[in-house]
Amino acid sequence: MTRSDLLSKRSILAVPGSSEKMIQKSRLLNADEIFLDLEDSVLLSEKESARSLVIVELNKGGFNSSSVAVRVNEQNQLIGVQDIEQIVTQAGSKFNSIIIPKVETPEQVKEICKRLTELELSLGLANQTDIQLQIESARGLLNVAEIAGACKRTISLVFGPGDFAASMGMQVLNIGENPVNYPGDDAYHYVLLTILTAARANGLLAIDGPFSDLQNEPGLKLRSQLSASLGYDGKWVIHPSQIEIVNSIFTPTKEVFEKSSKIIAQFESYSSSGQVAGAFLFEGKMIDEATRKMAEMIYAKGIASGLKRPKNGDENGKA
Ligand code: COA
Ligand code: MG
Repeated sequence: MTRSDLLSKRSILAVPGSSEKMIQKSRLLNADEIFLDLEDSVLLSEKESARSLVIVELNKGGFNSSSVAVRVNEQNQLIGVQDIEQIVTQAGSKFNSIIIPKVETPEQVKEICKRLTELELSLGLANQTDIQLQIESARGLLNVAEIAGACKRTISLVFGPGDFAASMGMQVLNIGENPVNYPGDDAYHYVLLTILTAARANGLLAIDGPFSDLQNEPGLKLRSQLSASLGYDGKWVIHPSQIEIVNSIFTPTKEVFEKSSKIIAQFESYSSSGQVAGAFLFEGKMIDEATRKMAEMIYAKGIASGLKRPKNGDENGKA
């Protein structure tokens, strides 16, 4: 089991690090994770004051979400390097992870990893800062397999659809939507699967990026369904109104959850009955070891999302 199996991160709320009001509001919300943003939601002229505010607010604590992260600025800029240094130094034990934007090469990740180790050693901390890596450019996508395996602190890969569309030359006006006049169903299918594959090959979470049109609820649902059904663990949200929609779509439905529990139970009872064949029929469908694995994965996601095990079931999904 990898560390990512233990986490449920369906909704991840972006909170501008320059807004005391929104940070205060975020304490009361039900996102699985909130992150205080120092990057694109903060004006250049407010970068330093936002960082100071974020440090104060992290030290105050009191966030409802089980996980709190900080998104720092790009690491090829001094401001981004200072973000990490000051956040870890002044609030090192008050957040769970740092989100690194615009990651493009494994070398960058190794360098950040080394810097964190040196910083933590100097502070008497030990390997406690996890990192999440945003893949949001053509180069980042080409290198994603190596990026995913470059540092043991990495817990997730996060798709950044806005910067990615710009980097590719896609004609997208609303972040997270298909390009204007796109005749197909999903312009991001290849990208989503490539990032997901790199994440899973390295035991990481895979997180989809935001959807910026707050008026378009069907659009948010569709994009959430596209990534959740592929296997993504969660999706960024930009506004409190998006949290419940995303939480619900990234939680297996009751029907699927209960079916997976039944399959596990059938498989166990079939195996323990001393049968010689590995496959059998259940409700007209073939079940084998691969079916059991699929069912266990869905069951684990359901439990992590807070679903109650079916009546008379035990923690292994036995009905
Ligand atoms: N986090 C916490 N609180 C938020 C919030 C967020 N991301 N977005 C809105 N709110 C709060 C507002 O402060 C307001 O609070 P109130 O009821 O106490 O006054 C309430 O939710 C309703 O907000 P609303 O008036 O509908 O929106 P707004 O005009 O205040 O904000 C945005 C709209 C888009 C500017 C805002 O949602 C936002 O900044 N989102 C995050 C942007 C971001 O971080 N982008 C970069 C990463 S993708
Ligand atoms: Mg971005």
